[in-house]
Amino acid sequence: MFVSPESPLLFFDSGVGGLSVLEPTRALLPNAPIVYVADNAGYPYGRRSEAEIASRVPALLGRLVERFRPRLAVIACNTASTIALDHVRSALDLPVVGTVPAIKPAAEMSKTRIIGVLGTEATVRQPYVDNLAAEFASDCTIIRHGSPELVDLAEAKLAGDAVSVDAVRAAVEPMFGAEQGDRLDVGVLACTHFPLLRDELTEAFPGVTWIDGGPGIARRIAWLTREQPSPAAPSDGVMVFTAEPRAPLLSTLARYGIGEVRSL
Ligand code: DGL
Repeated sequence: MFVSPESPLLFFDSGVGGLSVLEPTRALLPNAPIVYVADNAGYPYGRRSEAEIASRVPALLGRLVERFRPRLAVIACNTASTIALDHVRSALDLPVVGTVPAIKPAAEMSKTRIIGVLGTEATVRQPYVDNLAAEFASDCTIIRHGSPELVDLAEAKLAGDAVSVDAVRAAVEPMFGAEQGDRLDVGVLACTHFPLLRDELTEAFPGVTWIDGGPGIARRIAWLTREQPSPAAPSDGVMVFTAEPRAPLLSTLARYGIGEVRSL
């Protein structure tokens, strides 16, 4: 595969969640050209069926790869990755990095051996999560909670709405009401939208350590692209929406290096 300095890293999510993966990636690779695609026409993925995700995501990514010719694609979405990562990899001829729940580091960290996995409804029911739990956390109790409300709150926050700690607490509280939930000490943010609410989560649940896969994915991207040419200076990233975005997010997006918004 030919890689020029301008070949972008392509980030993909249903909405703004993937910005939580883009942020640590930019910290490691500040000059990498970025195209970030938010499939807001398909949002929210967490309420879609496995069949819908498994057909929609590889088809859309195929079009995006033809259009933007990226050096690498990042599925910055746990729902899409836990359902469709294999389909995407077999359909595309480029490196594809997925985002899967950070159960392994959570198990390494938990003292009580009670771990929460907070994701979308679709992600928390995936066999992929069972397999990670069996492989890396077999001596832990895993409490799963799917919260579409929390996804909406993250979208609202990035669109500039005020999001209260109480609203975040109410969305996540059922996880702590489950059997043994009062002893949960590490929560896996198994949806890329949720690190965008880290401050609110930390205030709502002091004493719980929240972890996500973003920094690990960033290191993986840096490793996979380590021998590739890059521009000598940073450039504005481009964000592409598959439907009209809810609000102009430009001032918020500037913090993530995005300088231009387009529709597909
Ligand atoms: N950000 C996505 C994830 O990591 C999905 C949110 C949604 O569209 O429901 O799972």
